[in-house]
Formats: sequence, C-alpha cells, structure tokens
Amino acid sequence: MHALTARGITKSYGGVTALAGADLTLRPGSVHALLGENGAGKSTLIKVITGAVAPDSGTLRLADTEVAFASTAQAATHGVAVVSQELNLFPDLDVLANLFPMREPIRRGLLDRREMLARAVPVLKQLGLDVDPRARLGSLSLAQRQLVEIAKALVVEPKVLILDEPTSALDTDSSERLLCILRVLRDRQVAVVFVSHILEEVMNLCDEITVLREGRTVLDAQPRSSLDIGDIVHAMLGQDLPTASRGAARRVGPRLELRGVSVPDRLSDVTLTCSGGEIVGLAGLAGSGHTAVLEVVAGLRRPVSGSVELPGGGTPSSFRAAIAAGVALVSGDRRRIGLMLDKPVWENIAQVHPVAMAGGRLLHPGPLRSTATSLAERVGMRPLDVEMRAGLLSGGNQQKVVLAKWLAADPSVLLLDDPTRGVDLGARAEVHALLRAVADAGRVVVLCSTDLDELVAACDRVVVFHKGKVCAELTDFDQHTILRTMNTGSL
Ligand SMILES: Nc1ncnc2c1ncn2[C@@H]1O[C@H](COP(=O)(O)OP(=O)(O)OP(=O)(O)O)[C@@H](O)[C@H]1O
Ligand SMILES: [Mg+2]
Repeated sequence: MHALTARGITKSYGGVTALAGADLTLRPGSVHALLGENGAGKSTLIKVITGAVAPDSGTLRLADTEVAFASTAQAATHGVAVVSQELNLFPDLDVLANLFPMREPIRRGLLDRREMLARAVPVLKQLGLDVDPRARLGSLSLAQRQLVEIAKALVVEPKVLILDEPTSALDTDSSERLLCILRVLRDRQVAVVFVSHILEEVMNLCDEITVLREGRTVLDAQPRSSLDIGDIVHAMLGQDLPTASRGAARRVGPRLELRGVSVPDRLSDVTLTCSGGEIVGLAGLAGSGHTAVLEVVAGLRRPVSGSVELPGGGTPSSFRAAIAAGVALVSGDRRRIGLMLDKPVWENIAQVHPVAMAGGRLLHPGPLRSTATSLAERVGMRPLDVEMRAGLLSGGNQQKVVLAKWLAADPSVLLLDDPTRGVDLGARAEVHALLRAVADAGRVVVLCSTDLDELVAACDRVVVFHKGKVCAELTDFDQHTILRTMNTGSL
C-alpha cells in the first residue's frame, strides 16, 4: 500500500507553469528525497499535497483514498504534516502557541496549555531546542525558528511528514539531530519527504529519490542505491554540471583591517586583515564570533575597543554609513532583512543602488530596470522577469535576488552570511564564480557559511573562530580540518 500518491499534478500562475504533470509516490517507512533545481516546482508540489494550493488538475490519494485538502490544517488532521520552506510562524506569539496554530489557548484556558506543554516539551527536547516555550517567537534565532517549525509538524505525530529544505538554516549539530529523528520516524513507518540542495545529506539519509525538472517528474521514486550523484545532477539539470572557470587576471585591492576588536559576549581582541582580491572564509560554531565580524564591519555592532578600517579609509559607524562607504551584506535570512516581497524584483535590486550613489542623483525607472535585468541574469535568476513580485519567486531564486541587489551597489567589501542558503547546485557554482569575479576586480570578499563544502569550494583562506577569538588561519584546508578546528579551537 502506498502512503500517498500524487498523479499528473499541474499548476500554472498566469504565464508561469510551476507544475506540468508531476508525480510522486510515497511509501510508509521510507525517506524520500524530492530534488530539482531552483524553480523546478518542489515547493509548489508540496503545497498542492498539503492543501495550501489547489492544483489545476491531477489526483491525490492518501492510503488509496482520493483526497483534496482545503488547508494545511486539514491535511494535518489526516496525518499529513509539512515543514514549509519559508517559515509560517507568528513572531508575536510564544513558542507554544506557534506549535499549535489551530488552537486558541487563551480562550481555552490554562488546562489546554498544560496539555500542549506536555506534548511540546518532549518534542523540543528531542530536537535539542533549548528555549522556554513561553519565549516570544520573534526573539529566537533563524535556526531556532526553523526548529520550531519542525516541532510544529512533529507534535501532530504525522503518517506523512514533508520537509521543504529543513536543514538550510541549521548548523551541523542541529541538522544531524534532525536526520536522526527522521531515521527514527522511518522505523516507525512514517513516510518522510525531504527536500534539500545538499546532495551529500540526501545520499546519506534517503531511501528513494524523485527528481523534478521544469514541473515534471523526470526520475520517479528510484532507489537511492541504484543512483550516484552524477545521475542525480544529470536528471536535475538535464546535463552535467558546468565546471567553474577561475578568473585569469587578478587585482590586489585595498584592505579591510580589524585591529584588536572586542564586542562584549561576541568578540575578544580580534585582529584580521582581508586583502582586496581574496575570498576569506570565516568559520566557527554558532556564537563563536565569525558572524559578529560581519556585523561589526557592516556597522550593525559597535566594538567597545579596537578599530575597523574599511578599504576606502573610514570606519563603519552605522549600517547606513557602512553602505555609503561601499560595504554590502548578503544574508541568508532573506525574509527578515533581505527582500521586499510585495515589490517587483527590479525595485528590490534597485533598493541599495540609490543609497550607494553619493549626491542622490535622480534615478529613472527605465535604466534601473535594465540594470536589474542584467544583474538578475548574472546571478542566474529564473524566470528572468524583473517585473515579478519577489515573493512569488522560488526560495532559491529569492536568494539570488538578494545577491543581485547588493552587487548593484558595486561594493568594495562584500560580506556574505550563508549566501547560497537554498540555492541549487548549478546556481551555487555560478554564485561562487561570481564571487571570484568580484574578488578578481580587487574587492574584499568575506564569506561566512554553515556549509563547509561552500567554504572549501569558494575560499582562498579560512579563518576559524572559537569562543570569540581567532583560533586558526588555514590556507590549506578541507572540510575535516575546518570542522575539527571549529570544535576544538586548535589545529
Ligand atoms: N504564487 C505564484 N505566482 C507566480 N509564480 C509562482 C508562484 N508560486 C510559484 N511560482 C513559480 O513556480 C515555479 C516553481 O516554484 P517552486 O517554489 O515550486 O520551486 P522550487 O522547486 O521549490 O524551487 P527552490 O529550490 O528555489 O525552492 C517558479 O518559477 C516560481 O517562480
Ligand atoms: Mg522551494
């Protein structure tokens, strides 16, 4: 018996075809990877299955009975739970209320909350999420909010659990804990669907693989053991992965310098030089100081001692001042500070540009649109339509717009915090090539990434942080060296 099947699902939005006859077959007791490039239709298929979006045509069967859920809440009552890609949480409510979104604890009184707590606490513990269930959701970090979204799906004890890129915001520890939980659920005969752009994770975890390309199923529930990474990439792209070409001429530009920088609870006496022309990776466990360096350089945090000197000479005394001085900060937390979702892509891309222009010259929409189009093309946005509202792009394509927006300012210091979160393999290689081109033009590029593969693939040098201090500078490194140094604080 199948846990759930989707057959011939189609869905269009105006002129955009998101799904063109997609199939998915899920079995109990199996972890199923749903793969495909950015915009292939993965999230849309999940939304159709879980009742968030009505398909144009196609059928769904749950345990061989035809179903059509009117909402994700209704799907959950039938044992189909989803962890969606863009978090669906209420920042002003507490963690507990977010875990039971269909209940109204205030009206139901204390007893209900007690019961909710009794169900929530073991799940939070299992996920290793050490927060007070009464904490306001908005006060949590992105990784913690991601874990709350996962906990919300687990408390319904689903028969079918669908996770849309659940690990893209998590550090290595939390990801591994989640993967363990998924294995346990599989042993309890749950059908698990897992969307990820990290193929290594997929190969370690999943039993079966379905690949979507342009809204169609091109690989249908194939056993993982019959496939290698090359087969999967080929199915995803319809061709093999292009090899990134390294820039030829390389300019050495002015430097970014931190001298003895301290920030309470974040950084202690950090000295660091990044030259224009190199890509410097910053690594560390969560809270070890590497991301605080980005905040200091971007003017979001003021050091209590030490100095920061930007390539142009000044110090970043505020975020605005830093932008005006040529600093750009690309964040993986695109919903929080990255994008205006209800505005067209070109307006998003044009957003920093006027700020970066000294003197405030009047800018006309025409040239802004055409600049936006060429930048969107450079980052490989699909569909290449800058009139589209940013919120309608697929997750990975939204991330490309955030990158394009900051490139528009032609920054002298490009700071990146998990810039390819949710970006597919092909586009990730394109983004890395783009970072190389920015560095080759003599700019300073500083990259924080929870994805160690990304640091190895993109960086010339990796500076490792431990408890707020620089503990090692690696010029010769692989994933294992970085991981060991991050954890032990020494080589
Ligand atoms: N509400 C909408 N209006 C218009 N187009 C949409 C809408 N929702 C999705 N799309 C389009 O449908 C296509 C498929 O998007 P979807 O989000 O399913 O991709 P995905 O495979 O999940 O990609 P990613 O890996 O980037 O998350 C994209 O071209 C997207 O822009
Ligand atoms: Mg998606």
